[in-house]
Amino acid sequence: MKKLFGVIGDPIAHSMSPAMHNDLFELYGIHAVYLPFHVSKGNLEAAVKGLKALGVSGFNVTIPHKTEIIPHLDKVDPLARAIGAVNTVKNENGLLVGYNTDGPGFVKGLEYLAADLGSRSALIIGAGGASRAIYFAMAQSGIGKIDLYNRTDEKAKELVSSCPYEVESKVIDKETAEKSLADYQLVIQTTSIGMVPDTESLPLLPENLKQNTIVSDIIYNPLQTKFLKEAAKRGAAVQNGVGMFVFQGALAFEIWTGIFPDIERMEANVLRNLGG
Ligand code: ATR
Repeated sequence: MKKLFGVIGDPIAHSMSPAMHNDLFELYGIHAVYLPFHVSKGNLEAAVKGLKALGVSGFNVTIPHKTEIIPHLDKVDPLARAIGAVNTVKNENGLLVGYNTDGPGFVKGLEYLAADLGSRSALIIGAGGASRAIYFAMAQSGIGKIDLYNRTDEKAKELVSSCPYEVESKVIDKETAEKSLADYQLVIQTTSIGMVPDTESLPLLPENLKQNTIVSDIIYNPLQTKFLKEAAKRGAAVQNGVGMFVFQGALAFEIWTGIFPDIERMEANVLRNLGG
């Protein structure tokens, strides 16, 4: 019997996950289908029960359900529980088990760019849900130092103090972040600043970015934010949000099938979807 996978969210019509995963099922000869399911906030519990009753093999979870789904699952992996968000669910012998591959996916994408992450110091801009997943996964992976700058200071402080993994860290203000950009080997932009239609905005002034810094922006719409363009002008190695999207999908696929899939093929699939 064909296995069923999918993604639940609202909105969901433009999700790039179905095309990416169905292409992989075909590539690896797996008899399965991956569908988008439009699930509004009020229908989350019924949808999860329904998917379980139907014997779904696994599914992804996107906005607005990543946190709210947790009490409806049978088991949640420790990293996902610490982050407080699940984006991947696997049916393990009838039990729905939640994972977070957003943070670990981001870290894996970084490892493709730089091997010795542990010795590096990072600055993360932003303290929302995406930042939390990235910060916790980076801390868990043993990175040396992670500083945080966020418009709302208290949110950054709360994020740092709630992380269960030990890492040297301080919360800095915008002026300090701008002045000390050259001290970081990794700069990670996790806010929505620079996303369509706000493409001329910058999260902070990039003047002090230096050559060879890795600058990553989780936005993929546009493919190159103004922040990434400014970083590239200064000789930084830049990475856009396609990387994080592809790697979270790759880790989900691996959780479901045991196969770590072809990243380049996934990236090409996503870029086609984005019209690039
Ligand atoms: P996500 O889940 O995508 O991370 P989120 O949880 O809403 O989204 O977090 C959005 C992040 O972008 C926050 O760090 C937010 O800063 P605040 O904590 O101060 O709200 C940041 N952000 C969004 N719009 C911003 C803006 N115009 N200027 C500065 N920061 C902004």
